[in-house]
Amino acid sequence: MEKAVKYEKVTELALRRGFYFPSAEIYPSTPAGFFEYGPLGVALKRKFIELWRQYIVKCDNMIELDGTVILPEVVFKHSGHLDNFVDPIVECKKCKTIYRADKLIEEKTKKQIPEGLSSDEFDKLLEKYKIKCPCGGELGKVSKFNMMFSFTVGPRKSERVALRPETCQNIFIDFARLFKVARAKLPVGIAQVGKSFRNEISPRQSLIRTREFTQAEVEVFFNPASANNFSKFDMIKGYKLILQPVGKKKPIKISASEAVKKKIISSKLVAYYLVLLQNFYDACGLKNYRFRELSKDEKAFYAKDAWDFEVETSLGWIELVACNNRADHDLGAHAKGSKQKLEVMDGDQKVLPHVFELSLGVDRSIYCLLEQALVEEKVGKDKRLVLRLDPKLSPYFVAVFPLVNKDKLPETAKKIAGSLSCSYDVFYDESGSIGKRYRRMDEIGTPFCITIDHQTLKDDTVTIRDRDTMEQKRIKIKELEKFLLSMITPVLS
Ligand code: ATP
Ligand code: GLY
Repeated sequence: MEKAVKYEKVTELALRRGFYFPSAEIYPSTPAGFFEYGPLGVALKRKFIELWRQYIVKCDNMIELDGTVILPEVVFKHSGHLDNFVDPIVECKKCKTIYRADKLIEEKTKKQIPEGLSSDEFDKLLEKYKIKCPCGGELGKVSKFNMMFSFTVGPRKSERVALRPETCQNIFIDFARLFKVARAKLPVGIAQVGKSFRNEISPRQSLIRTREFTQAEVEVFFNPASANNFSKFDMIKGYKLILQPVGKKKPIKISASEAVKKKIISSKLVAYYLVLLQNFYDACGLKNYRFRELSKDEKAFYAKDAWDFEVETSLGWIELVACNNRADHDLGAHAKGSKQKLEVMDGDQKVLPHVFELSLGVDRSIYCLLEQALVEEKVGKDKRLVLRLDPKLSPYFVAVFPLVNKDKLPETAKKIAGSLSCSYDVFYDESGSIGKRYRRMDEIGTPFCITIDHQTLKDDTVTIRDRDTMEQKRIKIKELEKFLLSMITPVLS
């Protein structure tokens, strides 16, 4: 499929089959950047999150948290977000459209522009590249816009709060309690899935840039003096990472141990968590990715060193996960702001832990997985859309069809569907021609379709069709469970 039409094809499928669609779409005045997931999207998102829990959270024995999305503004005063969580904006003097200055310059120059430049530096770049509004109007001066949604709670309107712009702040402010209740030892990972909110200036490209989105974040607390004394590293030291360090034009494939030895990665601990992440995306079936090291100007205000996990799409390289070494920025700031002691014991040493985070965007990941999976193929004179999702993520694992809607075939088919539905997500369909039913399953990524025909009534066999090869074979009903089980590693929940 042409790169240029990929985004449109994914969006068309998402709307038509209800993977996701704009929120409150029946009201035309609804602001952009809010999306709802329909049934297929819910299933895909849920499986993606469970796979993340399995490959990262459980695999590393992490602690989990489910925090509130509304937090007192004082949290963001001390985290630095009130002052620093800003985007550079510029307004057209003629049509009054507001743009993100860095993105406008990137679009015009095709160069990566660090969002952390000062307003003056942005003004100079706009002047240097003679950038105007697409309407032809002159642009005003660049200013900084805080992206948090702030408001008050309670009838007196005196208690200022904000919607969290990243899920991890709950983890930092709850750290002391979580460490204690879990009787944890350093290093320890604390994980959370939940909503984050950012008042993006130009929400666009559906799930890629929204104002409300789901993050799956891991914050690993560690003693900085022991980041290289990390025994779990030995298990993964031969694993090959795809890394693009600052100054390199292309990614390199390098083992975790080489990357640490050559000081491309700052410690064994950081390398281990990058491996966990890459291994997870491999399990999702993602291709064409890299870890890109961020330059000084590109890093978030709290990050000491940072790698973005990015994937190449029809829309260009998209960041899916920010991997930041936040050092003691957050615990230090919250200890000072709350006047609480947040140090913990590490052996006989009292330490204020440092933090390495994997901040993963679930919605962006979903879009990219859909884009990579969606293929248009010729079948004889026809075309078919097929979603080659990894079966672990497919909304339905198996579909069951009676060949015709008579002769007791539906009864037998329903019985088979019912028995399989205890172990698998099963879709039952008896409407339309069998060809149409296969196509409907192909485009939502169902790996297997089972058809019950007249021969089933004679010899207890069914046909099972493979989504990718479209090949069919006959199999005994009593062999079905065993066959399906051999085709998938189940996602535990
Ligand atoms: P960008 O530079 O693309 O705006 P960011 O650097 O601001 O992204 P982070 O602050 O590092 O993003 O957030 C961590 C992760 O959360 C991102 O890698 C992304 O997957 C997700 N994310 C951030 N902002 C959005 C958004 N507006 N819509 C959807 N996902 C987002
Ligand atoms: N927690 C990092 C981020 O959301 O950017």
